[in-house]
Order: sequence, then C-alpha cells, then structure tokens
Amino acid sequence: MIFLLCNNSAVSPKSESVPEGLRTLSRAKAAKEDEFYTQYGDIQQEIEAYLEFDSDTFRDRVVYCNCDDPFESNFFKFFAANFNRLGLKRLISTSYDGSPIAGGQLGLPEFEVVSHSRPRPHAISVVIDEVNDVTGDGSTGIEDVRLFLEQNPHSRTKLSGGGDFRSNECVELLRQADIVVTNPPFSLFRDYVALLLEHGVKFIIVGPKNAVTYKEIFPLIRDSKLWLGSGFANGNAYFSIPNAQGRGFADGVYNEETGLVKFRNVGWFTNLDHGRRHEELKLMTIEDNLRYSKHKEIRGKLGYDRYDNFDAIEVPFVDAIPADYEGMMGVPITFLDRYNPEQFEILGYEHSYSLHVRDYPAQIQVDKSGKRSKVTKLNDACAIKVESPPSNQTYYIVGDELFIAPYKRIFIRNRKPQLQG
Ligand SMILES: C[S@@+](CC[C@H](N)C(=O)[O-])C[C@H]1O[C@@H](n2cnc3c(N)ncnc32)[C@H](O)[C@@H]1O
Repeated sequence: MIFLLCNNSAVSPKSESVPEGLRTLSRAKAAKEDEFYTQYGDIQQEIEAYLEFDSDTFRDRVVYCNCDDPFESNFFKFFAANFNRLGLKRLISTSYDGSPIAGGQLGLPEFEVVSHSRPRPHAISVVIDEVNDVTGDGSTGIEDVRLFLEQNPHSRTKLSGGGDFRSNECVELLRQADIVVTNPPFSLFRDYVALLLEHGVKFIIVGPKNAVTYKEIFPLIRDSKLWLGSGFANGNAYFSIPNAQGRGFADGVYNEETGLVKFRNVGWFTNLDHGRRHEELKLMTIEDNLRYSKHKEIRGKLGYDRYDNFDAIEVPFVDAIPADYEGMMGVPITFLDRYNPEQFEILGYEHSYSLHVRDYPAQIQVDKSGKRSKVTKLNDACAIKVESPPSNQTYYIVGDELFIAPYKRIFIRNRKPQLQG
C-alpha cells in the first residue's frame, strides 16, 4: 500500500467528537497531501488518446483548468502550447490561493509578497482566446504565451474567492467551459466530480483509483456517466511534489534523484470517449482457463468459485474472465482499466445490497494472527464458503460455516458470451 492520498476524514462534515484544533490540523494535512503536480508527458499521452479517437475533441471548445496555477501547471502549459494545434476556442486557468508553486516560473505582480506575515500568492484567473507568434520565430508555443501574459494584464484577473473551484467566480467560469482538464485535490474528489456533473461539462481529470468504489462514484461508472481514461504508462503515475521532506512516504514511493513520487493507485477519470474504451478484451473459455490459466489459483480447479451471498462466480484476475459465461461475475476493480461497454455490462459492486441472495448475522472474524473479533462486514463483501480455516488469510465464522472475502469486487456480465453450439 502506498502513501495515503485521499484523507477523507480531513474533509468530513463537522463531527461532535473531533476537537476544532485537531480538525484544522487534519485539514492542513489533507491540503498538503493535495499538492502533487502532474508531468507534462503524462498529460500529453492522455490527451493524445482522445485525439486518436476524435481529432476534433477540443476543436472550438473552451477548456478550463480549474486547479492550476497559470503557467506553472503543466495542464496550463500543455493546452497553452497546443492551443492552435487543438483548435481551442478559449483556455481558462485558475490558481488556488496558497499554492506553493504559484509565481515560481512567471513573475507577475499578482504573486508579489504582500507582507512577511502573509507571503502567500493571490489566486488569479487567466483567459486566453488566441495564441499568436509573439516571439516572431515562425511558430507558436509556450514562450509566446509567457510574453503575452506579461504584456497583457487584462488577460489576468484576481480572484477574490481565493480560486476555490466551488467559489462563485470559478463556478461562473465553469459555466463557460466545455471541457475541464486537471488534477484536482483528491481530498475533495467527491465534491469536485459532483460539481462537474451538476454543470454538465465534459472532463478529463486525475483521481484516486479507489474512488471507483465510493458510493457517489460507482453508480456513475455503472451508468456510463463516467469511466476511466486511457491511463498512465504501465499504471505508474509520477508526480512532482514540493517539500518532500518529512512526508512519510512508503519505501519506493519518493525518488530523491528525480524529486518525483510514484503512485500506482492513481488514474484518469473522464466522460469523453477514447479508443482504449472500445478495445475488446481477449478471453479464454472456462474450460481453457481451468486447464491452461497462468494463475495457479485457477489452473487445475474443477470450476470457478461461487459467492454465497451473490448469484455470481468469483473471477480473481481480469485475464481469467471466461469468454463463455453468461451470468454475473465478480471481478477485481482493475477490470475498469479494460472495460469496454460494448463487451461487458456493469451490474453492481459488493455494496449493491439489492443483489444479495443472503444476509448474515454478526460474524466472528479471525485475522491472520488468529485474533478473533465480532464484526458485520461480511454483508459488505463477497463471501466465499470454505470447508476448513484457510492459512494466512482472514476468515469469518457464521454458525458452523466458514467464509473468506476477496478484496473489492465489481459485478459484470458479458454482453456476448461465446457459447458453444
Ligand atoms: C493534486 S494538485 C494538482 C495541481 C495541478 N493541477 C497539477 O496537476 O499539476 C491539486 C491542486 O489543487 C489546488 N487546490 C486545493 N484545494 C483547492 C480548491 N478548493 N479549489 C481549487 N484548487 C484547489 C492545490 O493547491 C493544488 O495546486
């Protein structure tokens, strides 16, 4: 498990039991953990996936980067530098008051230190309607944008609401936008997505992968209102972070030489189409999986396990989804990286209580070390009945029955199972 990115407790509604001081500290921690910056190459690679599918994805569109320091953010840089190639109508970018990187690359007066007691930069919006060859080198690029911003104060506006994406000024800009592209603060991911959907904009945003099982997000995925983007190369997302010291990253997460952190549980979320979403997943039949699967958990078995509380089979690996099964299958959430809506239908997830075929009374949980506790969590999971206590794995006792519960599952159905005969 890597460093915790999404500290939702830090933004939960006021609770009676948490003292204000602690809550403030907790918010400050969440805010600090929200500061990590996307690489230009990753943005470019993701955007190319949409252009390959439809080269006019951004043509005549207003793109809004609403968590982005104009100039320092690579989202701003990418869309500014590619303004003409993409055929943008307008690029809007708003920064957030207190950003540690604001003004670092472009010394605008807005970012000057006001006083030593308040050295934070102000939030600003930047609106660009055209990018011309200001340098006179025969092409347009980021240097032209830099000169344009320096020479045209009217392209920049101070934001009295501090640049919060929920502030009136930013929502007003959101209303003008066709497509929002950014990496928003993960601690506010639910609110952020809700706001975008409320305003009916298209979006391509970075987010925590485990958001797919948030109760606010999963129904959107099931109903094809949101899906995963093309993705980071090999699932590894690298970000730069200011002030890496003392952040308590797990081994292998922070690389001192590059100054980058590596997160594997981060992905792109979108409601715009891209080619990978239409690629068919190549599958083997049940029989071939049981005979030839590369996974020892499948190979040699008599059949796939069935859940006790859902009418579905357990498929522990995405590449072990059988081609010829008609019914409901429980698959790991990594399935969503390969989800093609023409090939599969998403039916629910382990919190889809309406799909339950059995509810359990309180259970005894026996953890790996043998510690026993009374719990009710089997009703929030997919339960597989086992004959004897498994070694090195948590299990549950209900009366004289024993169960194990695989980690987070999504239920799917093959829309065109390859049935024999
Ligand atoms: C994960 S960082 C990503 C920054 C930039 N989009 C990028 O990827 O390079 C999230 C950014 O959102 C800003 N931010 C935090 N809370 C915000 C809020 N309520 N409204 C707008 N921006 C916010 C942070 O200051 C930070 O710059």
